[in-house]
Amino acid sequence: MKFTLEAKDSQSKARAGEIETAHGNIKTPIFMPVGTAGSVKAVHQTELVKDVEAQIILGNTYHLYLRPGLDVIKAAGGLHKFNAWDRPILTDSGGYQVYSLTEVRKIKEEGVTFRSHIDGSKHLFTPENVMDIQRVIGADIIMAFDECTPYPCDYSYARKSLDMTHRWLKRCCDQFDKTEPLYGYEQTLFPIVQGSVYKDLRERSAETIASYEREGNAIGGLSVGEPAEEMYAMTEVVCNILPESKPRYLMGVGTPVNLLENIALGIDMFDCVMPTRNGRNGMLFTKEGIINIKNKKWENDFSPIDATSELFADQLYSKAYLRHLIRSKEILGAQIASLHNLHFYLWLMGEARKHILNGTFYQWKKEMVVKLDQKL
Ligand code: GUN
Repeated sequence: MKFTLEAKDSQSKARAGEIETAHGNIKTPIFMPVGTAGSVKAVHQTELVKDVEAQIILGNTYHLYLRPGLDVIKAAGGLHKFNAWDRPILTDSGGYQVYSLTEVRKIKEEGVTFRSHIDGSKHLFTPENVMDIQRVIGADIIMAFDECTPYPCDYSYARKSLDMTHRWLKRCCDQFDKTEPLYGYEQTLFPIVQGSVYKDLRERSAETIASYEREGNAIGGLSVGEPAEEMYAMTEVVCNILPESKPRYLMGVGTPVNLLENIALGIDMFDCVMPTRNGRNGMLFTKEGIINIKNKKWENDFSPIDATSELFADQLYSKAYLRHLIRSKEILGAQIASLHNLHFYLWLMGEARKHILNGTFYQWKKEMVVKLDQKL
């Protein structure tokens, strides 16, 4: 994997760059649609490529390991072959899903034992087996096994957890470095900065993570309920330490405004379920603000979903029709809303990139953040 820094904004820390992977290049800043179980929910691959112009998607180790399981993925020849996506894939390590999805779990030095949310069966994730599992899944970028602390989190828990995440990182790197890719193309491992909302812990974590000199670095443990200002403060502290020459990935973030503010602080990559999950529930993100399509005010609004959008579905279907579909829980409603939101998120990243490249990012971002959060 190679990262080329193409431009830096003079009035913020925003950057534009390009990541080269075995499955193609990714122009940054980028948003990665979440494809938890190997599919971006309600969105077809051709729509992802042609309409959304997704450059990379995300998969989850936790889900794929439980179902369909490693034997099936291995027999298919890896996730790219299994889900017919030949562009880059990143897999999260499960170091978040085990905490958010499973109730019965035990965190020990060795790893985390948990019960499957599907059938209650008992499993153990360790830094070593999570590397091996991600070798089998075969994503281009794989993530270290970490503990994502909740919010709020007291200082002493955050410190102990961070130290363990750092010890786990050493084990992840050792295991990753002594194993080979299974399918003949290169994989790369990103470590994850933790430290809750504590500046000194975040600084120490960023220094530790940077010292591993991997090809990219991630920031976790944010967007877990803390005020946005605390998230931005932590991103800023960490971005000042992580090397400029490597891509920086902020995990699980966020709203369109969160994305722009974090790009301004030096983040290159994002993922979040918000455009798809909230879309299925009727929340639409647009250039002018947020629409709750279930609202009665759209009942007889036969104007296009988004008249300014280049997405075919945004022009073809009316707000009133999409409102009806979502309220009726029609599958097509989830499809259109997910497509619209992902198209919007990727459009926003493309615009941010253009403005960084031509030196107008700062002013553009300032104007956009005022509009993006408005409720329409
Ligand atoms: N997704 C969102 N936040 C996190 C995190 O802190 N760790 C991991 N592994 N995934 C995440």
